Amino acid sequence: MKKEMRAAKFNKFNGPKGVEVGTMEVPELKEGEILVKIKAAGVNPVDAVITKGYYKDMMPHPFPVIPGWDFAGVIEERGHAARRFEVGDEVFAYARRPEVKWGTFAEYIVIPENYVAKRPENISVEAASAIPLAGLTAYQSLYQYGKLSEGQRLLILGASGGVGSFAIQLAKAKGAEVIGVASGKNHDYMKSLGADHTIDYKKQDIGDAVREIYSEGVDLIFDCTSGESLQQSLKSLKDSGKLVSILNQGEDLDPKIDHQFVFVEPNSLQLDHLRQLVNDEKLRVEVKKVFKLEETVEALEQIGTLHTTGKIVIKP
Ligand SMILES: NC(=O)c1ccc[n+]([C@@H]2O[C@H](COP(=O)([O-])OP(=O)(O)OC[C@H]3O[C@@H](n4cnc5c(N)ncnc54)[C@H](OP(=O)(O)O)[C@@H]3O)[C@@H](O)[C@H]2O)c1
Repeated sequence: MKKEMRAAKFNKFNGPKGVEVGTMEVPELKEGEILVKIKAAGVNPVDAVITKGYYKDMMPHPFPVIPGWDFAGVIEERGHAARRFEVGDEVFAYARRPEVKWGTFAEYIVIPENYVAKRPENISVEAASAIPLAGLTAYQSLYQYGKLSEGQRLLILGASGGVGSFAIQLAKAKGAEVIGVASGKNHDYMKSLGADHTIDYKKQDIGDAVREIYSEGVDLIFDCTSGESLQQSLKSLKDSGKLVSILNQGEDLDPKIDHQFVFVEPNSLQLDHLRQLVNDEKLRVEVKKVFKLEETVEALEQIGTLHTTGKIVIKP
């Protein structure tokens, strides 16, 4: 008999308000796939964006669509040749597939086992579920593309949000010096994660403030906000410095700037490394609020403000 699950889903691109909880059939397990019972699902700004159809020309979205790309849960079944894990293993993943359809704001997900990694067990399942997308984004931006190294100076725009919170800690784990940018209410929070200096984008010109801290400028700017904050910050980049942005694909940028746009990719080996950093207490997650599945609309509206501190999570 086919298994059913509760899921948050939408049938047209109507924004967060169009998302409703109902039932759906759990897909059958195919070769190389596992069935995971989702215990918690991290919420990211992209989940709200998806409900508005912004990515509909980039990836197919067959309705009904379940939003959500992050999860932590337990393996309940394994398909043919899916043998990297055991039934009962606690895992987490960034579950972005080539098609936007089977998201994580649901009781179950069927997913190829190569997307998942064992989750850190010294933190709550809610905290673990908030790591993959934002943690991998910070990891790929700073380590893979930014090639951040010990002693370098880094400016993070939007450092109190989901991605920025991981970026501060990953940069400190590498031995870099960090300036975090966010509004004043988040400065103690950024310092608690390891930021050496903070700048309030509402009160200071970011570029001038950086030059007051480091007169010679910074080696790397990690841009998680773009817009005016990015434009102000550019004058603080050393001539030899690099800009890594998760929003700006080169628009309004001087072509002489060494610029890299990053769109985060699933990577279970990097999730293993993030788990290790959590186990070593070099990485922690602040879950500011846990929503019920029935509160998915509120969770999406909150994340859509782009002023969430730390992470929020849905518990199906
Ligand atoms: N390309 C990719 O692969 C990728 C991956 C992940 C995320 N993203 C995108 O990156 C952005 C950040 O994601 P997130 O999950 O970190 O979002 P988030 O959790 O909402 O955090 C946003 C952060 O930006 C700060 N902020 C807002 N306006 C600002 C401004 N004008 N100047 C400086 N800081 C400002 C906020 O602090 P205050 O509350 O103090 O203002 C907050 O710290 C989102 O737009 C998301 O869609 C892209």
